Amino acid sequence: MTQKSSNTVWHHATIDRAAREKRQGHKSAVLWFTGLSGSGKSTLAHAVEERLYAMNVSTFVLDGDNVRHGLCSDLGFTDADRVENIRRIAELAKLFSEAGIVTLTAFISPFRKDRQAARKLMPHGDFLEIYCECPLDICEKRDVKGLYKKARAGKIPFFTGIDSPYEAPEKSELIVNTGRHSLTECVDKVIQLMLARGLISAPTAQQ
Ligand code: ADX
Repeated sequence: MTQKSSNTVWHHATIDRAAREKRQGHKSAVLWFTGLSGSGKSTLAHAVEERLYAMNVSTFVLDGDNVRHGLCSDLGFTDADRVENIRRIAELAKLFSEAGIVTLTAFISPFRKDRQAARKLMPHGDFLEIYCECPLDICEKRDVKGLYKKARAGKIPFFTGIDSPYEAPEKSELIVNTGRHSLTECVDKVIQLMLARGLISAPTAQQ
């Protein structure tokens, strides 16, 4: 997007990210969950957040359905609107990251190019793409929100997986098979990844 506010000067904070991370006792990062509607992104993001909260990690979940009620309430589901939705979320996640927080985003984010652009906004290693892999037929069978049924009946245009594409990640940091594995197993995998990357440290006996 072109920058319209040209006469502005970047102000450097004296309390920087490193200072915040030191005080928090953990790194900040963006856990970017992507997958079809109904693949379990939000459920997993919130479950991971609960686990991290218990480990005294500062977190925040940005969730598609919620954000679209406020910050992105002017956007629909055309390709252009999804691009703008993801652009805003990526910028928001970057700010949260600078605030020393582990940000968990749960958006379909169907386009590879946009996820790549989000990744590029963050310092190298900060962005972990987590693909919630769940076949369309399982998402559709679950149909938690009843949206697939409506989409099949032609009542929701541009529905992801039906008449709008989903581009699965080719090189994500992690694939969690939300269609086959339990929620606990999927949470474990995400926590293991964070430990392996040195973003958080293993809980001590007192915790
Ligand atoms: S994204 O494509 O721009 O990343 P986002 O994650 O914000 O989408 O929103 C997806 C959620 O909006 C879905 O989980 C579903 O509840 C709802 N939704 C409403 N219309 C659509 C649609 N046409 N396609 C996909 N999801 C939709």
